[in-house]
Amino acid sequence: MVQTNKMTLLSGIQPSGRPHIGNYFGAMKQFVELQKDHDCFFMIVDYHALNTIQDAKVMKQNIIDLAIDYLAIGLDPKKSVIFKQSDVSEHTELAWIFETITTMPYLQRAHAYKDAEAKNKEISVGLFNYPMLMAADILLYDTDVVPVGQDQKQHVEITRDTAEKFNRIFGETFKLPEAKIISNVAVVPGIDGRKMSKSYGNTIPLFAENAEIEKLVMSIVTDSEKYGEDASKTVLGGALFATKVKGQSPILGLTSYHPANVYLIHQLFRSEAELAPLYQSKAGKYKELKDALIADIKRFIAPLREKRKAIVSDTAAVLKVLKKGGERAKEKASAKMDEVREKIGVKLY
Ligand code: ADP
Ligand code: TRP
Repeated sequence: MVQTNKMTLLSGIQPSGRPHIGNYFGAMKQFVELQKDHDCFFMIVDYHALNTIQDAKVMKQNIIDLAIDYLAIGLDPKKSVIFKQSDVSEHTELAWIFETITTMPYLQRAHAYKDAEAKNKEISVGLFNYPMLMAADILLYDTDVVPVGQDQKQHVEITRDTAEKFNRIFGETFKLPEAKIISNVAVVPGIDGRKMSKSYGNTIPLFAENAEIEKLVMSIVTDSEKYGEDASKTVLGGALFATKVKGQSPILGLTSYHPANVYLIHQLFRSEAELAPLYQSKAGKYKELKDALIADIKRFIAPLREKRKAIVSDTAAVLKVLKKGGERAKEKASAKMDEVREKIGVKLY
């Protein structure tokens, strides 16, 4: 691997369904911008997704789709290493080592586990250990920066704790990474006002067709009594709306009926200075505000969708990118694992 003095950046997305505008503005957009001046690793974390996707055909298709999505948003295999986690077995190997130095009560504090438990879901050991595999993903590459949405902040903190613990026990081995979170898009709300998430079925897909965009935007919840106030308390984006907009205009405040979620999604596509007069002059006219949002989303998505269609037509080239990326990642990860094996005392020859 060529050594440079650039910072190392790494991030990953699960191949668990179509990416949405929350994924894009929360994380993926940064990937594209940051690849200019960082040594980048972008992963498709298929072994994380195995906790939920347990159908070989679906898994295969999702992996290919996500690789296409990465290329369509502008990730460049000449600049960045684009690969899938399962091609580098060192990830699962290092996760095991971390599991031996981490306690159950510590992992029981993780949000993803607590949420699943609160919902009485059946929790696999894989889901419980999820943060250990993510720590391995990050630490294997001496990563400096991890661009993610707000919901992943705790996982990066767990990664830092794990690195510190390993270093304490076995000697200085791992760099401590920093999460990079864009504050005003940290949590993009979905069409029902909760966090936009593939698992809630409340998304606007990043490569949606026009008819789909129209239908989804028209179904964005605007009843503030039912959702708006709630959203402002529970969704970070809502809080942002409340603090930034409430002071500006009583029309836009959370006290009256207003399309909080429409606004929050709209601000991804236009500046607040542009939106303020529109939302003041059209206060209460949800249909017109939604029409304006539809037009902006369509304008934004059209070129991305076209680019994606061009890439879809050459799946062989996409697989080549992934295979090559896996080989490049493996080179760096296996050197690091060698050092880890030496540190823990299992490297005898
Ligand atoms: P999902 O919840 O839709 O399954 P993932 O867990 O695959 O999303 O997340 C991929 C990346 O997108 C992560 O960095 C995550 O923090 C970010 N992300 C996911 N949903 C949102 C959202 N609603 N707002 C901002 N960022 C998000
Ligand atoms: N846990 C992340 C998510 O659900 C995905 C992920 C796995 C990841 N490994 C990673 C993100 C390493 C950043 C770095 O979104």
